[in-house]
Formats: sequence, C-alpha cells, structure tokens
Amino acid sequence: MGRCPQLCSQCDEGKLARETGWQVDSLPSGPPGKPKNTEGLASVFSNRTSRKSASRTDSDNMADGEGYRNPTEVQMSQLVLPCHTNQRGELSVGQLLKWIDATACLSAERHAGCPCVTASMDDIYFEHTISVGQVVNIKAKVNRAFNSSMEVGIQVVSEDLCSEKQWCVCKALATFVAHRELSKVKLKPTVPRTEEEKTEHSVAAERRRMRLVYADTIKDLLANCVIQDDLESRDCSHMVPAEKTRVESVELVLPPHANHQGNTFGGQIMAWMENVATIAASRLCRAHPTLKTIEMFHFRGPSQVGDRLVLKAIVNNAFKHSMEVGVCVEAYRQEAETHRRHINSAFMTFVVLGADDQPQMLPWIRPQPGDGERRYREASARKKIRLDRKYIVSCKQAEMPLSVPWDPSNQVYLSYNNVSSLKMLVAKDNWVLSSESNQVRLYTLEEDKFLSFHMEMLVHVDTAQAFLLLSDLRRRPEWDKHCRSVELVQQVDEDDAIYHVISPALGGDPKPQDFIILASRRKPCDTGEPYVIALRSVTLPTHRETPEYRRGETVCSGFCFWREGDQLTKVSYYNQATPGVLKYVTTNVTGLSSEFYTTFKACEHFLLDNRNDLAPSLQTL
Ligand code: COA
Ligand code: ADP
Repeated sequence: MGRCPQLCSQCDEGKLARETGWQVDSLPSGPPGKPKNTEGLASVFSNRTSRKSASRTDSDNMADGEGYRNPTEVQMSQLVLPCHTNQRGELSVGQLLKWIDATACLSAERHAGCPCVTASMDDIYFEHTISVGQVVNIKAKVNRAFNSSMEVGIQVVSEDLCSEKQWCVCKALATFVAHRELSKVKLKPTVPRTEEEKTEHSVAAERRRMRLVYADTIKDLLANCVIQDDLESRDCSHMVPAEKTRVESVELVLPPHANHQGNTFGGQIMAWMENVATIAASRLCRAHPTLKTIEMFHFRGPSQVGDRLVLKAIVNNAFKHSMEVGVCVEAYRQEAETHRRHINSAFMTFVVLGADDQPQMLPWIRPQPGDGERRYREASARKKIRLDRKYIVSCKQAEMPLSVPWDPSNQVYLSYNNVSSLKMLVAKDNWVLSSESNQVRLYTLEEDKFLSFHMEMLVHVDTAQAFLLLSDLRRRPEWDKHCRSVELVQQVDEDDAIYHVISPALGGDPKPQDFIILASRRKPCDTGEPYVIALRSVTLPTHRETPEYRRGETVCSGFCFWREGDQLTKVSYYNQATPGVLKYVTTNVTGLSSEFYTTFKACEHFLLDNRNDLAPSLQTL
C-alpha cells in the first residue's frame, strides 16, 4: 500500500463525517503504524447512547437505529485491476474521479427523479493511494436539495481484502443540478432524520453560500495578496523553464463518455484533466508524481457527444516539496473550431514521493514573462489561501485557538466557520432540558471538553423583526446588563460585522472584560429553517488587549429564530462555555443563580417594546 504520509494528518473521522455527512464508524483500523484517533468519536457515541434529548422524536430514534438508511444513499464497490492504475501501479485518480462522479450522480438522480449534471466538485484531499487488488468502496448521499441543485456528500474507503483493513481515501462534496428539457426543475426537499443528517443539512446551506462566491472570493484574494517572490534573485541555471512542462491534448467526446442525454460525464472530464496535469508535473520532476489535492472543479458549461475538448496544462509554480499544475479545458464543434467555449479550469497539487514515502525536493521553475509570471504569483497566493482556509474550515474547535486573527484572506472562511459551528451546535441531538422558569427553558449539553447551554422562549413578535433587532449588537446594552457598551468596529459586508463589546467584571475580578466579536447573520434558505446570528471572537491588530480590560473570548454562541406563527417566534440563545465564563454558567445551570432567566426575560421585553421600531440601518435587509 503506497501511502502519502503528508496527507495522513488530514485523515480525521469527525471532520469527514461533518463534511461529507458520513460517520466513519465502520472503519476497524487505520493504516499500519498510525494509531487511529477515535477519542472524539467515542465520546460522541457514548453521549448519544447515554443521554436522551428533550427534543428527540420516535422517528429520530428509529433513524439512529440499525435499520435506517438514507433513501438517497448509493454505494459502489470496485476491485482495482491493472487497467485502472497509473505509472506508479496505483489506482489513477482520474479513474477514481469517474467512479466518484458516477456514484454521486446516481444518488442525486435518485432524489431528483430525473437526469442531473455535475455543477461543481469541492476541493479534494487524497489521504492515501490505492493499490491493485484492493477494493474501493464509495458511498454517496444527498446532504441537501436546494431549488434545482443538490449537495452530495461522498466518502471513499479502500479495503485490503487479505488483511480486512480499511482506509479513508478522501471525502468529497459535489453539487448536481437537476435537468429536464424545456422546464426548470424544482426539487422536493430532503428530510434529515439523524443528528448527523440534520447537521449536514444545515451546514450545506452555508457551504453553498461559500461555493457560489468562490470564484469572486479567490479573485479578490489574489488581487489583494502580496506575495514576496525571489524570481529576480534566483540562479536561472538551476531552474526548469515552465515552457518545458506545457501540455496540449485533444479528446473527441464519444457516446461512452456521455450520459443518456449526450452530455459528457463530469468524471470523464476530470479524468482527462488529471491526465494532462500528470504529464505536465512529470515533465518538471522527471519522475512519477502523486496527486495530493484538487481545487474546486466548476463545470461552467456543458459539452456533448461530438465535441472536441482541448485540454491545456502547465506547471504554474514549484515549491520546495510540491507543485501546482493548472489545467484549462475548451470545447468546440468541428464545424466551428474558432468558437471555443471555456468549460473548466482546475488547479492540482502534486508531490513526488520517495522510497520512504516522503515528499522529495523539486526543481525550481522559471515562468514565462507575462501570463506565466502572473500564474506563478497566483499559485503562491493560492497556496497561502488554501492553507489559511484549511486551518479555519477543517480545524476541530478543540484544536483552534479561541480567537482567530481577522484579515481579508480568511474573512469568508471565518464567517463560514462562525455560522457552521453554531449550526452544528444547534443540530446536536443530546441537549437535555435542565430547568424551566416563567416559560423560559434552559437546556444543557455536556460533551467531552465542552459544556454548552441554550435558552429558549416564545415571543409575540415577527420573526424577521426579532432577527433584525438582535442582529445589531450595539443595541444589546438595552437589555443585557452583561454588556456595558458595544461599538461597531467594522461592517465587513451586509451580513458580517465586527464589534468591540465591554462587559462588567465577573465573579470578584476587579477588571471589566472586553471582547472582539464577529457577528454573522443569515436569513433562512427554506421555510422551517431558522434565522441565525452567529458570534465568535476574533483578534484585530487595531484592537489589541489593553491593561484596562481582561480580554474575554467566545468560541461559539448566537441566536436562532424560528417562525412559530404569525407574530410568534421561538427565540433561542446558544453558548458554548469558555473557561473564562464557565463558573458563571455552572452557577446558573445548577440553579444557584437566576441571572440567565432575568436577562432572557429582559430580551423578551426589548423585542416587544421595539417590535414596530426598527433602526433605519437595519431596514435594508
Ligand atoms: N457550484 C455549485 N452550484 C452552482 C454553481 C457552482 N459553481 N453555479 C451554479 N450553481 C447552481 C445554482 O446555485 C443553482 O442552484 P439552485 O437552483 O438550487 O438555486 C443551479 O446551479 C442553477 O443555477 P443557474 O444560475 O440557474 O444556472 P447556470 O446557468 O449557472 O447553470 C449549470 C448551472 C451547472 C447547469 C451550468 O453551468 C452547466 O450546464 N454546467 C455544465 C454541467 C456539465 O456539463 N457537467 C459535467 C457533465 S455532467
Ligand atoms: P488563469 O490563466 O487565470 O490561471 P485559466 O482558466 O485561463 O486561468 O487557466 C487555468 C490554468 O490552465 C492556468 O493557470 C494554466 O496553468 C493552464 N493553462 C491555461 N492556458 C494554457 C495554455 N495555453 N497552455 C498550457 N496551460 C495553460
């Protein structure tokens, strides 16, 4: 079994389950020599079985049971034969992408009940390679249906038949669009049943939001990213001219490459792209490279049987141990060769593994002046963006420092992380009703290292109005005596803002506390979904800690608002307790203080008093 040690560190079952919608509880063991970290999962399972949630229903319980299978789930198992392998004798990524795309497409079509096309495939990290004789098991299920599109979560596991061992190879998220000739499709909604399905369903909306602005985000980040390169000072005699790696290849789309509608399969296009990228990478290193990551594939337009696809690839930049290869695909009909449609572009990162499976040093590359130098710099910027994003999007909360530095290069991902963390907390099914007073309910959730609580009440006020009133943190001192003053530091965009919050000293501490908080608000995509205001701490160079205040932090908190009727809203406040406030939280949770209730009641009065009185700044929503 060839392994990519660099990538193994990314294998994380919790993350996999969250990002693909699959629990990897079926994996009996990790790869040789690497102990599996099952602590997090084990605690989730023990929580699941030892506590009963106040909000669980019979169908939820059945959904968790052995008999339950998501109705959109599709599985594919393939024995890896020599005809599927690459120059290293391992399963070629192109072949794997074809199987992934086919499985995901069948899952999407099972939900849609009509043909579907691949719109995009999110970034993929390959954690292991797969050898001849092993089995590839692929599972796909629809995480959420939107209007005409669906997010499909895919998990790929390889299996060694002799030793019975299994490895997680990669996870992927693909978007498929249902397609019916002459009419726009409106998909039926997916109904999540298990806790994990509910989490995926909720977070999928946030991922979609990020996906749709992906191209613009990357463009902005590239424009603003200052990369210091040493192109001028490098010794040219030791550099490989990028031109030497350039590849151009043409493919004729034949019926076996297309679906029943005559559209080229997305997996086939990805496989052709991987082929030319591998040739370009091999020309730089003069060895057999291994594909490590693929950045977002976006299928910009369709191609059909009879189209000619021109694939072009070149190494954009070579770093010490990895290189970025860019590929672009254009389609044309024979009768209109000059009319080429740009249908796809992708960026792939390759490494060259030595006999010890460690990545080898790569030669430097000398880009062509003009576009080549631009791509060289953009590849460096993409690498930085990729690393920033990976850290923020995939870090477990326990691993991430409470306050993450705020800067333009991580803005979109921090906002994503803020909202998705709250949604994951909300979707947990092991909340326990701790107490109830004056029609305000207090729930708690004990998990591994965290204690979380949430307060819930019904308020006779319009849902959108309640959302608007609480989403301007500057008004919080009007009802929350734990907020002395709130200043707006930066209005990031329409839905995200950073505030400086000052609260009185807590529990005998002589110093007041201050917080720098990112507030991200979201309206629901569907009826039944809540309005959300997510709050988390960030650090800002302009607002460093001062001796005057003790810097407080919140890792995950915020409000959800559910419409329960006309002028009737269920308002919930969620908070994952951080060490600084833990004592205060436990005092309330154990009933030794009633401050939570008093504060939440004050919030209700604030909403009722201001139900017809929106600040002009909020009415733009
Ligand atoms: N990633 C994910 N979803 C995307 C997307 C992207 N980059 N771009 C568009 N979509 C989604 C939209 O959100 C929308 O979903 P919704 O209806 O649930 O709200 C849906 O696609 C349609 O968007 P719309 O703007 O009406 O259509 P479009 O003109 O952008 O077309 C495709 C979208 C995917 C249909 C079109 O780009 C296409 O045909 N691409 C080629 C598909 C293909 O051939 N794939 C490979 C072979 S199967
Ligand atoms: P960009 O040039 O902004 O990177 P494109 O979509 O034009 O975006 O191209 C994507 C990638 O495809 C490029 O980064 C490059 O690596 C590769 N590419 C584009 N054009 C060519 C070409 N003529 N020859 C070889 N590779 C190309």
